[in-house]
Amino acid sequence: MTNDQKVLVFIGLMGAGKTSIGQKLAEHLNMEFVDADEEIVKAAGCSIPDIFEIYGEPAFRDVEERVIKRLLTEGRRILATGGGAYMNPQIRDAIAQHGYCIWLKASLDILVERTSKRTGRPLLKTGEPREILRDLMDNRYPVYAQADLTIETGAESINETLRAILDALKQQTPIIGVSKDE
Ligand code: S3P
Repeated sequence: MTNDQKVLVFIGLMGAGKTSIGQKLAEHLNMEFVDADEEIVKAAGCSIPDIFEIYGEPAFRDVEERVIKRLLTEGRRILATGGGAYMNPQIRDAIAQHGYCIWLKASLDILVERTSKRTGRPLLKTGEPREILRDLMDNRYPVYAQADLTIETGAESINETLRAILDALKQQTPIIGVSKDE
């Protein structure tokens, strides 16, 4: 499979901006955008906090794996994954096979600030969010580093991050559906 047929997959911690940047990139490239967590909610017929509470995290991870594997094989699109997805080796393999993986890498301060604005993330409910996010960074960043592309995001605007992604994608051969003048 050549790069221009691959699903563009966003990975990164909660609050890194995978959904908002993914949507923006999809609009810009006129591609379909799918959010894995939304599809999991549809497949399970209940919210993510409810899945964690009623069935437990392992059940959530099972559904997550099935849903993401399906979303990777339905044609070219942009896919935002939940923060834990890439930690699953099966999902990593599927992404390596069908996707081009973009890690949105954010600092702890940014993640703490952004995640404080939205509820519905069960992993942040079990203690002090900053501590939890710090531990997740320690555990996950070495694995996220396997992504094809790493984009550092901070206080800059969504448009600036989008620009950085488009510039980086243009360097790829074969070109990932991004023309020179984009
Ligand atoms: C999780 C991240 C969440 C969601 C679930 C677990 C994680 O997605 O999949 O709450 O393990 O980091 P976002 O990264 O989109 O918040």
